[in-house]
Amino acid sequence: MKIQDITVEYQHNPIGLDTAAPRFAWKLADDSQNIYQKAYHIQVSKDDEFRELAWDSRKVDSDESIQIVYNGETLTSFTEYFWRVKVWDQEETETDWSDIGRFEMAMMSWKDWEADWITPEYDYKAPKTACPILRKEFQIGKRVTKARIYVTAKGLYELWLNGKKVGRDFLTPGWTSYNKRTLYQVYDVTDMLKEGGNAIGATIGSGWYKGELGWRSRRNLYGGREALIMELHMTYEDGAVEKILSDGTWQSSYRGPVICSEIYHGETYDAQKEILFDTYGCGFEDWFHVRVMGAAAKDILHAQECPPVREKLVLRPVELLRSPNGQQILDMGQNMAGHVRFRVKGKAGERVVLRHGEILDSEGNFYSENLKGARQRVEYILKDEQEAVFEPHFTYQGFRYVLIEEYPGEIKKEDFEGIVLYSDISQTGKFHCSDENLQQLTQNILWGQRGNFVDIPTDCPQRCERLGWTGDIQIFCDTAALQMETPLFLRKWLHDVAAEQFPSGGVPWVVPDIYDDTYAYDLVGYTGQSEKVAAAWGDCATVVPWNLYQAFGDKRILEEQFDSMKKYVEFIRKQGPCEYTWEGQHQLGDWVALDAPYGSFVGATDVDYVASAYFAKSTEILYKTAEVIGRDKEYKIYRELHHNILKAFQEKYVDEDGELTVKTQTALVLAANFGLVSEELASNYMKKLAEWLKETNYDLITGFVGTPYICHALTKYGQVETAYKLLFKKEYPSWMYQVTKGATTVWEHLDGIRPDGTLWNPRMNSFNHYAYGSIAEWIYRDITGLKICEEVPGYKKFQICPRLGKELDSAEFAYESMYGKIVSGWKRTEDKIEYHITVPVNTTAELRLVGSELLECQVPYQKIKDEYVLETGSGDYWFTMRE
Ligand code: BGC
Repeated sequence: MKIQDITVEYQHNPIGLDTAAPRFAWKLADDSQNIYQKAYHIQVSKDDEFRELAWDSRKVDSDESIQIVYNGETLTSFTEYFWRVKVWDQEETETDWSDIGRFEMAMMSWKDWEADWITPEYDYKAPKTACPILRKEFQIGKRVTKARIYVTAKGLYELWLNGKKVGRDFLTPGWTSYNKRTLYQVYDVTDMLKEGGNAIGATIGSGWYKGELGWRSRRNLYGGREALIMELHMTYEDGAVEKILSDGTWQSSYRGPVICSEIYHGETYDAQKEILFDTYGCGFEDWFHVRVMGAAAKDILHAQECPPVREKLVLRPVELLRSPNGQQILDMGQNMAGHVRFRVKGKAGERVVLRHGEILDSEGNFYSENLKGARQRVEYILKDEQEAVFEPHFTYQGFRYVLIEEYPGEIKKEDFEGIVLYSDISQTGKFHCSDENLQQLTQNILWGQRGNFVDIPTDCPQRCERLGWTGDIQIFCDTAALQMETPLFLRKWLHDVAAEQFPSGGVPWVVPDIYDDTYAYDLVGYTGQSEKVAAAWGDCATVVPWNLYQAFGDKRILEEQFDSMKKYVEFIRKQGPCEYTWEGQHQLGDWVALDAPYGSFVGATDVDYVASAYFAKSTEILYKTAEVIGRDKEYKIYRELHHNILKAFQEKYVDEDGELTVKTQTALVLAANFGLVSEELASNYMKKLAEWLKETNYDLITGFVGTPYICHALTKYGQVETAYKLLFKKEYPSWMYQVTKGATTVWEHLDGIRPDGTLWNPRMNSFNHYAYGSIAEWIYRDITGLKICEEVPGYKKFQICPRLGKELDSAEFAYESMYGKIVSGWKRTEDKIEYHITVPVNTTAELRLVGSELLECQVPYQKIKDEYVLETGSGDYWFTMRE
């Protein structure tokens, strides 16, 4: 057995942790079958020869190989640790020590900060929108063996050292509820320093901190002044440590090249104003002082909690178009979030002007109306005749098409690249199937996640919104985890959910909360409610942590979020009119469902019904969480509350004949999927829904709330064929309709572009919204059948129960779990089905395969109704079944 892929807090050799007890994980590889771990032994040390141990777990009899919590001496700031692990298999065979892993602590307490926040001195002659530069020169007299930078900003920063950018991150420090929590980043800059004169400098953009945000064009939401805090720690050959801190000795200027840069609007960059600010002896004379912000809080500073936004992919334009109105437009071939990097050669003062849009209008011209107030415009002014390469700094665009308004000389598509930016987390699941449209749909859903995982989970990446809409990720989080390793990304965001919770316990519509009363009025009409909380949105507080626990075995996230979860459920309990239902409040309901009354965004399903259904769901998650983390008292309280909610729900919404009083598809789906009624009733409802869908030619009309679960609920109660028909329908309204229209991401509205070519209202018509993409969860969990066992989460034990449909000849899902790769695939050959399944070492799987006769099978099995049920440990397995 081999130990592979060792990680600390989900990362390989991280250098900026401030967690008192980091968690270790490893994967095991072995070619034989049914292998599991019986014991492990971890050592953590301050030296790579393991002489001075900070923790020696000794041999621990345990089959756990993920989420192992450090339990040694207190970890200290700025210290590097080495670790290794060995394991024993079930035969007591001992492995060698693993490769050596490292991790390094950042500041274990904010009190470790010695530097001060500094802000540039104003320059009334500089353009009002200009992004300031801050800099400092310093001398190094001895050889530096180790150097680290700890840095963050109010605004977005780019840090440069001796002519090179520090790190390869974009949009740092990301977006948090800044005034409550600001994250700092840590960089290894050992190789960037030199003996003699050095220069360090930062440019600060407005970003989410003080740039325009929301539909109401509000600015300075967190403060009006850009600022920087930074420490450079240099360890010399002789062991001495010297620090360069942000302090009153720095210089500043507003006369740099970034004239204006905003998240929504793009960037204007005048290369003629470039200053060699990051070069020692830069020659520029007009520096201003900086001001030390003595009173600015440092207790809000925490080490980076998730991988930063990075350049993840590079796209080449597929075409340079000439539109009917004569404009030149680049087609990237893919709706994406990020920016364009281009090459240009011309004369000083000439300009490149780019605008970014998602679609072309029905005539084929550039279209940007649906961006609303977001300008998405990039302007670059050339400084000389040398060839230049440019990409913007403090902004990103959501686009497929790039309108080239100005460009010196001939436009060649080879001179442009689409730089795809998103948080640097790895892909977990990969899906392949025999149907081109379904393949494209799953690609579109993955691209939707890429475009909306730009530091926080957003609704869309293009219009003047791009906000952390809580409902969108609530319904998408399971799909998200099936596509990417989400724990660090969502944990960071959940900390903001807790930080932004109202004193009442309600969770705001968007997190970070840029709450604005007038904004709410704009969207749904003013209601007089001062706190904007909605069912299915606020429930992100329970659903998202529970999902992370289920998918990654991350119990800590439940411990960290428990208070927030409980506060949210208690908030609902107080809404009334009785303790067990949630009624009479303003809600967003089954958002954008097609059964909405004319002119409304809110679907036909009674909003109180949706609210009470979610009250039940969140309470159920809460009592299960209490059980997992050993909060017995709360377990009992909330299990009883859940019971009472179900009773009240049934009294209110189920009539004497067992029929629901709310007569919509979403109502049926919620009742069945959330376990709100008996199994018998649920099964009747799904029969009814199947008939209803048949009568309406499988039109998809459910909204945000019903859509994620509709196929699950149908499948669970035996209506697999209907689920397949719904998914594979090509005509409007359906998921595939947009695929046949050439979509490369998932649309906000099923009728974003209508069959007659007209568009939905530009006021709210995004072509990159992942909410409807939550169907992928059904595709991966039912078509290829990968299911989590709730009691043994993290895929330590899982089920494979594929549900075949005649629309497909083959499907395969390969999922990189915390234990290693799981594969579930099936292929139809004449009258037979071949299954291929991979179970990682140290896990077990229960397979439930359908077919009339199992022809080849290496594992003992049972036949239960129409399923062959097998249980197996690790290994690769092939089964042949007569259909
Ligand atoms: C967003 C949605 C969001 C909704 C709720 C929209 O503007 O784009 O995705 O959940 O508002 O009101």
